[in-house]
Amino acid sequence: MYNFFKNINLNKKYSGPFWLYNFNIIKKKILKLKKFDIIRFAQKSCSNINILKLIKKYNVQIDSVSYGELNRAINSGFNRKNIIFTSDIIDYDTLKKIVKLKITVNIGSIDMLHQLGKISPKHKIWIRINPGFGHGHNEKTNTGGENSKHGIWYNDKSLYGIIKKYNFKLCGIHIHIGSGVDYKHLKNVCYAMMNQILYINKSIKSISAGGGLSIPYKKKDRIINIKNYFNLWNNIRNKISNYLGKKITLEIEPGRFLTAESGILVTQVKSVKFIKNKYFVLIDAGFNDLLRPVMYGSYHKISVIKKKISYINKSTFRVPTIVGGPLCESGDIFTQNSNGKIKIRFLPKVSPGDYLIFHNTGAYGSSMSSNYNSRLLIPEILFYKNKFKIIRKKQNIKDLLKLEN
Ligand code: LLP
Repeated sequence: MYNFFKNINLNKKYSGPFWLYNFNIIKKKILKLKKFDIIRFAQKSCSNINILKLIKKYNVQIDSVSYGELNRAINSGFNRKNIIFTSDIIDYDTLKKIVKLKITVNIGSIDMLHQLGKISPKHKIWIRINPGFGHGHNEKTNTGGENSKHGIWYNDKSLYGIIKKYNFKLCGIHIHIGSGVDYKHLKNVCYAMMNQILYINKSIKSISAGGGLSIPYKKKDRIINIKNYFNLWNNIRNKISNYLGKKITLEIEPGRFLTAESGILVTQVKSVKFIKNKYFVLIDAGFNDLLRPVMYGSYHKISVIKKKISYINKSTFRVPTIVGGPLCESGDIFTQNSNGKIKIRFLPKVSPGDYLIFHNTGAYGSSMSSNYNSRLLIPEILFYKNKFKIIRKKQNIKDLLKLEN
């Protein structure tokens, strides 16, 4: 992705920071999961409707977790039958829309069952189970176990009585234990699914392995063996199928796995300075744009492109650098640990005007941006069929103030 950027010099064409995606990479990642019966994209990772429209072409279905995401899915042309709404709570507008369009709901709380059941008995539902354990690349992305707000506890005794009371059509069981999960933990989800099916002893049509698959942010990160992962799930699916005496559909619900590696964030160096003996490089994007380093201490590889052509290779001299953004907040630092401590990064020496590229920002990059410090949302650009296209314009001041005027 970075080499490809170097060749086309897009930075000269677009002023200010921007997100850049390469759809070829998303396509490649979709194909890696093709053995699963249904790939359901967790659009929270990358929700631009232009990307959703392309993903749809590859027979990928979609998960929505809010009123906004439901509308994005519908706007991108997804058939209502290919949308599942996943949540632990539901508000009135969302409920109305779901009932009107008969969208299947993946239920994460007992209250939600009552709220849906009262106005739409017999609705098609999935149950999101909290299997009693979870895992994530950070505590904040662990969605299972007793410290997580997500899902219905695996041995909740009231659940199936309530399903019966409202005559819900129980389509499937869903377990998602967290994001950035390793193979070892993912394996345990299979067994939890089997146990759950034995526990409920009810006929269902589908099971979902959830999302969570990690990607290699660092060189040394292990890559998940998708073949082994599929085989494990396929095995469990077959066991469930035998047990229930019917065909069971196997779903997977990735976000990051499909999009993270497709995207970069392009920023420009605006100032370099020493604070005592620490060397700070300040760029024109902040944590309002890329939140992950501040929120989780996440690592994103940073590459340098010099404004004036000069070749950077492995032997280029690197200096201990702290990379910060423009926000009026001292935590606006891209090189930090999960506890907020500054972490030095060894980067080639830069000057104002040079570019810093943040890798693997296609997932939870733009979709987690905000207007903090009243900074404008930056544009998104997509490389597709050998062309670059702006798929989200830069926000302007009028857009920013519209709701307040
Ligand atoms: N399914 C459900 C129900 C989820 O809650 C999530 C993520 C996914 C699927 C997709 O997970 P993925 O395959 O992308 O790991 N902001 C964090 C990640 C939090 C994701 C929350 N839910 C980050 O930047 O790492």
